[in-house]
Amino acid sequence: MISKETIEEIKARTEILDVISDYMELKKSGSNYRGSSPFNNERTPSFFVVPSKGFFKDFSSGKAGDAITFLMEAEGMSYLEAIKHLGKKYGIEVEEEEATDEEMAARNERESLFIVMKFAAQYYQDNLWKHDEGQAIGLSYFRERGFSDTTIQAFGLGYSLDLWDGLIQYAKDKSYNTELLEKAGLVVRKEARVYDRFRSRVMFPVHHITGRVIAFGARMLGQAPDQPKYINSPETDIYHKSHALYGIYQAKQAIRQEDYCYLVEGYTDVISMYQAGIQNVVASSGTSLTHEQIKLTSRYTQNITVLFDGDAAGIKASMRGIDMILEGGLHVKAVVLPAGEDPDSYARKLGGTAFTRYVKENQQDFIRFKIALYQAEVRQDPIKKAGIIREIVASVAKIPDPIQRQVYVKESSELLEMDESVLMTELNKIHLQQYRSAQKKAFFEELPEPEEALPDFAPEEDTSRDKTYYKEREITRLLILYGQLDIEAGFKVYHYIFQELEDVNIQTDIYADIHRLYRQKAEAGITVNDANLVEGSSSELTKEVIDLVVDHYVLSDNWELKFNIYVPRETNILHSVIERSVLELKFAYLEKLIRENRQKLMVEDMDEQIKVLEAHRVLKASQMEIARQLGIVIS
Ligand code: UTP
Ligand code: MN
Repeated sequence: MISKETIEEIKARTEILDVISDYMELKKSGSNYRGSSPFNNERTPSFFVVPSKGFFKDFSSGKAGDAITFLMEAEGMSYLEAIKHLGKKYGIEVEEEEATDEEMAARNERESLFIVMKFAAQYYQDNLWKHDEGQAIGLSYFRERGFSDTTIQAFGLGYSLDLWDGLIQYAKDKSYNTELLEKAGLVVRKEARVYDRFRSRVMFPVHHITGRVIAFGARMLGQAPDQPKYINSPETDIYHKSHALYGIYQAKQAIRQEDYCYLVEGYTDVISMYQAGIQNVVASSGTSLTHEQIKLTSRYTQNITVLFDGDAAGIKASMRGIDMILEGGLHVKAVVLPAGEDPDSYARKLGGTAFTRYVKENQQDFIRFKIALYQAEVRQDPIKKAGIIREIVASVAKIPDPIQRQVYVKESSELLEMDESVLMTELNKIHLQQYRSAQKKAFFEELPEPEEALPDFAPEEDTSRDKTYYKEREITRLLILYGQLDIEAGFKVYHYIFQELEDVNIQTDIYADIHRLYRQKAEAGITVNDANLVEGSSSELTKEVIDLVVDHYVLSDNWELKFNIYVPRETNILHSVIERSVLELKFAYLEKLIRENRQKLMVEDMDEQIKVLEAHRVLKASQMEIARQLGIVIS
């Protein structure tokens, strides 16, 4: 433990520019500094350092933070390592404080799990390389599969002997207690008996990104139809299956360099591709992908290429996983391997260069891929078409970025030979459904008699805050960027926005402040822009404004270069963007008002209740009107 005071001192002394310059080249750009993202490969530098604020923002990955965050994200340091690193750099002595007993116990417990896993991994490796049984059975199995000795070592592969207590006995000799083995999931206890979990199998250690072993997958050899092919470690204090990605430790460097990552299913797929020279590959280990795994990948790249086996069975089942990657804001491509091949067999067959060529030639943007997948069905059965359109649009709806969504709608409409507006309507329906299910209870739709409803009616949690916040953020961004453009002579965008929002109070303080400030300056005759807006303002406000606008300066250029897709520039569709944005904000406010009003139903008084219901009717009608203008269908 390092004392709070030391941490504060280190933070105070840290110059972010200084720290980041140690790792990458930065060029001055206005009052800030700019460089190529350390997180992605990019042609247009989109990494910014704002020395006056002590923070950085990387637009290609969306990462932002201070010097400590930078060291953690870009250099893979832990928080403490980052602090120590900075302490050394600035000559501040980092004295370790005594940890409390509890902290020590917790830390020791996890630490001992890591240690015993390392010990076990070494034991399985020794079995493989040095033990007769291991060599004869395990090592020869791997070699027959075509794994070279170097590869076997790079993945730390091993072998578990055909014994009930091989590990247990060896651990005892080395004075590791059996209880610890049990906590690490290495042994199984049945009543009074304890025995090795992994027996007579080849061992695949699963590594944490830092290289520490956190679990094992154990593949059986030969035929035993009553046994599972793989036995895997159970969940432990250091292993959470849903967070782990097989191969990430061996792959992370290459993923960062190549700026994309292959996603496959199995341990052996990862290993064979790696051996063929394709090192940017990880496996979800047979289960469908989780949010945590996607988040982990996105630390290194925003681009994922999913490889599917030649036999199509699993493909549709994997669509959910793909949708989840999209939801994470990542870019997804898909490749189907020739019939009968999996990444393991195909990489061995072709070697790395030809394999990569195959992928490059056959990979498809996920939307095209999904459409192609269903297109055969559409042709066979036109009635299915509606369902399939819904399927496709459901994927598009997952994409968090509205501009990218729009690009996909356009592309899908061409591929499906459908009118764009049909897809838009479908998209809006899905968004509405999502918003509804988020609301959990559609209270008024199934409203029983008020008296009956009252006793167990509790106000719901306020879920609208985020939504209003984002809409306010968006309108504020548009105000700053485009406020001074003419809608018609003498009537500017900012006039329009202020006019439309005259009756509402902006709820997020910082945005209310920005609007107030903008109005003041505009009324004083200033042609407001981002720079003169923040002059003399608090650093919080300045930071917010920078954050709102810098995105815009970098984003569209970058995309065109990087993904070769045309991003409709906001200015081209400005009018509709602003109109829509205003409507969406009002919609969000109304939603909130409706919910607040609904809570007043708690009152006992019947007359009051009638008023509340009347107010509800009025609010709902306004909301319907806005929904109509937005093209959202409310039933
Ligand atoms: P595969 O059956 O494709 O295994 O399952 P594989 O790794 O390619 O093995 P080979 O090529 O037959 O030797 C894919 C992944 O699913 C998980 C494992 O992570 C495996 O790598 N799996 C599979 C299990 O966890 N348990 C099983 O019984 C089967
Ligand atoms: Mn396989």
